[in-house]
Amino acid sequence: MAEADHRILNSQIKLGSQYYFYMETQTAIAVPDEDNCMEVYSSIQCPEFAHDTIARCLGVPAHNVRVKTRRLGGGFGGKAVKSIAVASACAVAAYKLNRPVRIYMDRKTDMIMSGGRHPMKITYNVGFKSTGKITALKLDILIDSGMFVDVSPILSDHMLGSLKKYDWGALSFDIKLCKTNLPSRAAMRAPGDVQASYIAEVVIEHIASTFSMDVDSIRNINLHTHNSLNLFFASAAGEPLEYTLPSIWDKLASTSSFYHRTKMVKEFNRCHKWKKRGISRVPIVHEVKMRSTPGKVSILRDGSIVVEVGGIEMGQGLWTKVKQMTAYGLGLVKCGGTQDLLEKVRVIEADTLSVIQGGMTAGSTTSVSSCEAVRLCCKVLVERLVPLKQRLMEQIRSLEWETLILEAYRNSVNLSASSLYVPNFSTMHYLNYAAAVSEVEVNLITGETTILQTDIIYDYGESLNPAVDLGQIEGAYVQGIGFFMLEEYNTNSDGLVIINNTWTYKIPTVDTIPKQFNVEIFNSGNHKNRVLSSKASGEPPLTLAVSVHCTTRAAITEARRQLVSWSGPNEASSTLVQLEVPATMPVVKELCGLDSVQKFLQWTIAKN
Ligand code: MTE
Repeated sequence: MAEADHRILNSQIKLGSQYYFYMETQTAIAVPDEDNCMEVYSSIQCPEFAHDTIARCLGVPAHNVRVKTRRLGGGFGGKAVKSIAVASACAVAAYKLNRPVRIYMDRKTDMIMSGGRHPMKITYNVGFKSTGKITALKLDILIDSGMFVDVSPILSDHMLGSLKKYDWGALSFDIKLCKTNLPSRAAMRAPGDVQASYIAEVVIEHIASTFSMDVDSIRNINLHTHNSLNLFFASAAGEPLEYTLPSIWDKLASTSSFYHRTKMVKEFNRCHKWKKRGISRVPIVHEVKMRSTPGKVSILRDGSIVVEVGGIEMGQGLWTKVKQMTAYGLGLVKCGGTQDLLEKVRVIEADTLSVIQGGMTAGSTTSVSSCEAVRLCCKVLVERLVPLKQRLMEQIRSLEWETLILEAYRNSVNLSASSLYVPNFSTMHYLNYAAAVSEVEVNLITGETTILQTDIIYDYGESLNPAVDLGQIEGAYVQGIGFFMLEEYNTNSDGLVIINNTWTYKIPTVDTIPKQFNVEIFNSGNHKNRVLSSKASGEPPLTLAVSVHCTTRAAITEARRQLVSWSGPNEASSTLVQLEVPATMPVVKELCGLDSVQKFLQWTIAKN
């Protein structure tokens, strides 16, 4: 702070919650089984944890419980912990009544009990040079964790991972979890990351608006060099060539015609009174952590393959990637028909007694680590099959997959392999990089915000499946738009969620998504420390949606500048527009001036 030419002190921002809005609400079925056992079908992201809790609730050994999860109708973090209570209650009822019991939540109950994203209150002090280069940032963050600690302690790590996307010089922070009268919070997609990404951008925008500087150049000047990245992230930063953000940043400027469109936006704003536009380019750095995950691959007599993994399919495409990895891994045996193995693979439900140590599907690394667990199994199976294949090839010229497997059965080759993938220190942490340019148009009369165009470039290393990963970027980004622009999840003074149905809770619709949506995968190439060189896809793109909020703020700033020109300097100051999250229509309308038409008419009459 002492090195700074200017300081902004004690500025405050607030952030609200967000509901997961999975299509399938929380549900479970419990079926009593012989020998005092209980079989529970649960819609949960971490069956292993439900398993342990159910055993404790029933007072039976863990081997008397079996939790099965085939797939979820969406999870988004809301079925990580909250589903444990639902599954356990269901099991207790079934145990007492000794008959099958099913629970499913209606939407209202689900919305009330599920907790949602963590609201927070942030106070920041920032020091910077006259050039816009930041020298120090100090943050005090109060996180509303609700009435029970739940998974809230993970929040601070997540926040720091995303906050450090800029080189703050010196960074000091105090993050406190607060106990309140609200439902306890869970880890909604990009928990803490999305809020941190927002805080970083508010600080940058505040500096720009205080000195009427160009916000894009403030972003530019504060992006990390590889040296500063190393200081902030240590081992996760990797080698200089792995730091792809500067290339993405420049590439996006040219593919989205950013500078040209910035001029066009200025021109548009000059010519239009009742509509204003904004355009912003925003970077993200997102730290992820790999976790251990089990896998099991078995080849049946007819050559078909059955796969079990720790990860749960919830729409993120985990099964698709696992199937591909199995076909690839077993294909290395190289005999007739191995190119068509994909059709022979079936991924089956997670079963906590069949594959143990499943852990939780979270943090955007489960698909990848499940793939790696499967690759390890396939490696073992290929090593068992290759000697037999070589022996058989001495007798026959061509060998089909089905024949090889039949012979393996006859020769008692073990055709089932299981593994536990455990990442080592050098593979555990890495950084994801991406950037987005968003352009919006704000209607000053109604407060409506239309997203005209979004361009995203996202570094996937080498994508395991570009179709799935593109879907993840688009979906996450749109869910982020919901958080920043639409979804009010209010509570009353007793802490009860009052917006608790589909009438009042507004998620993004087909009208909200960008009119033109260009997403590009940046293949940064081989990397020996990552699973087939891939990178995480599920959560990081959500944080890019902050660009829509920044852009809306820019358009509102233009509207307020115009208002000042009509009403004189007392009307609105040119410093940072405090735009709430979510920036809903009434919020935007109010900031643009509820009486802007009146002001315009008075100004016109006075002028004449
Ligand atoms: N995509 C869909 N369609 N449905 C979901 O529930 N969950 C998200 C993301 N994408 C989700 C999704 C969340 S919260 C996470 S953590 C990641 O997927 C999980 O992806 P992974 O299997 O790579 O860890």
